[in-house]
This record gives sequence, structure tokens and C-alpha cells, in this order.
Amino acid sequence: MISLSKKYLTSIEDLTAEEILNLIEHAIEFKKNNDGNSSNQSLSGKTLALLFEKPSTRTRLSFETAMFQLGGNTIYLNSNDLQLSRGESIEDTSRTISLYVDCLVARVNSHNTILELVQNCKIPVINGLSDLYHPCQILADLMTILEHKKSFEDLTLAWVGDGNNVCNDLLIGCAKMGININAAIPQSYEPPQPILDVVIKESKLKNSRFTIVREPIDAVKNADVVVTDTFVSIGKEKEDEKRKSTFIPKYQVNGKLMGYSKDDAIFMHCLPAKRGQEVTSDVIDGKKSVVWDEAENRLHVQKSLLASLLG
Ligand code: CP
Ligand code: NVA
Repeated sequence: MISLSKKYLTSIEDLTAEEILNLIEHAIEFKKNNDGNSSNQSLSGKTLALLFEKPSTRTRLSFETAMFQLGGNTIYLNSNDLQLSRGESIEDTSRTISLYVDCLVARVNSHNTILELVQNCKIPVINGLSDLYHPCQILADLMTILEHKKSFEDLTLAWVGDGNNVCNDLLIGCAKMGININAAIPQSYEPPQPILDVVIKESKLKNSRFTIVREPIDAVKNADVVVTDTFVSIGKEKEDEKRKSTFIPKYQVNGKLMGYSKDDAIFMHCLPAKRGQEVTSDVIDGKKSVVWDEAENRLHVQKSLLASLLG
């Protein structure tokens, strides 16, 4: 297991292609040996804190289980229960957390909070989702693609929907691994320009294709991987009606749209899914769907990441 060049993970941009591949290869090893009662106790005596400003099912569960199976401990911190909610600064909170635990996973509203935590903590900080990025999800997504497609070469991934946190990191991660990308995103919902610039730069380095289109069929036609996510991310609830009228029905991944992908294409979604909105049940429960492998892989990749940062 290689040690990572950066001792934090704010975005998939922090990792090199070699590091991503190495993390995935180790995650595949963890998956092979997964009996829920791992003989690998390499994180014995280590404690991971999970500081969450937003709800979570998979991220919290997979990190807590990963730590437990590797012999470590976790402490879940709902931000409302901390003095942070009464005005204690991030600086002082970070210094305090660093005195007790070995690593911090944070799920935050504003990505600036992740950057402030990285700056002020003396321990590795992992972004467990911010408004801009979701790197742990993308590690699991890339692992799932590799498992099902055996290689990243000559693949085309179609993103359909909102240019959100998952989209941002997925585009960067795919570009780094040389996967061609067709993104179907409505006007004014694209990722921010600095993120697009990174995707363009990484795609050029790998000689792969990156296009943004408005027509989902143009993106999905002959794609190997089709991915979507909610149209209304946490924190965007006030825009619920406006977003639904922009995205539905045009950007919904349904059986008809999925029919344009290759016969052996896979469908992915980070979950939670709003069935009937961004995806229909026939797709998410259909034969091309690998969403449960994708969810399971969160656990294995989390182990790989924790072992790299703390082992
Ligand atoms: N995909 C994902 O991060 O799920 P949770 O919000 O349930 O953690
Ligand atoms: N884009 C979604 C992802 C949830 C895992 C959100 O931020 O709510």
C-alpha cells in the first residue's frame, strides 16, 4: 500500500491516477477477504471522528464499519451537539479534535469548512461530502467501473443531470483515469468553471474526450457507464420546484434513455435515489444497474483509504 502524497482528501483532485488505482486495488483485496471479522487489525488503537453537518446513511455506516473491522474505534459527532453550534471557532475545534483522535471525516455544508479543517487539524481530514465534492463516493464509483469493465481504457461515461458535488468529483476522477466523458447538464447547472478547467486539463493529458451537451440522448448513446444523482441535493431544497421543472422529464434516466447505452452498459447512482425523479425503478432495479455493488464498495474503499492514511 503506497502512502498518499497528501495527508488529507478534500477532492479527488488531491490524488494522482496512480494513487487512485492503488487505493482501488487494495479495496478489491479488502473485498475478497471481507468476512466482517477481518484478521487485519492494522488500525487497532486508532480513533476516527465523524463530524457531520448533514444526514448520511452510506458514508457514516461504511466509515464506522471500516474502522471497526480494522480494529479501530469511531466517534460520531453531530455538529449540533458540539460547541461549534454555539460559536466555538473551527480553529479551536480542530485543535481540540486533533488532541484526541487520529483522523477526521467531515460532511459539511460549505467546502470552505473542509479547507479550514485541513488547515487547522494536525490529523488527516477526509471530505465526507461538501457542496462541491464527494471524493470517497468517486473512489467507490471508479472501483465499481473497474470491477465491471476490467479496465478504464476506451470507456465512455455519460453523466445525466445536475452538475453537483458528485458530478464535479466524478468528472475529475474519470478524466484522471482517461475515461471519455459526455455530460448532459442543463444550462446554468454546469459545474463551476474552475472545476471544468481541471477536467479539461486532465482529459487533455490523457488524450480522452470531455463534452457537455444539453440532450441526454447525445450523452448516453453508446455509453459504457451511465450515472445520475438527485436533482435536489441537500441544501438545495428551496429550489425544489424550479429544479424539478428544469430536469423532469428531460433529464430522467428511464428505460427509454438507458436503451441508447451499450448492451453491456452499467447504471450507477451514489444513492439515495428519488425514484420517479432522476431515475425510474425499471432502471435502478434493472439488469444494467450496479448501484448495490457501488454502495457496498464504499466500505472496501474506505478501508483502503483509512489504511493508507493511518496504517
Ligand atoms: N452516497 C452517499 O454519500 O450516501 P449517504 O448520503 O447516505 O452517505
Ligand atoms: N448530491 C447529493 C449526494 C448525496 C450523497 C447531495 O449532496 O445531497
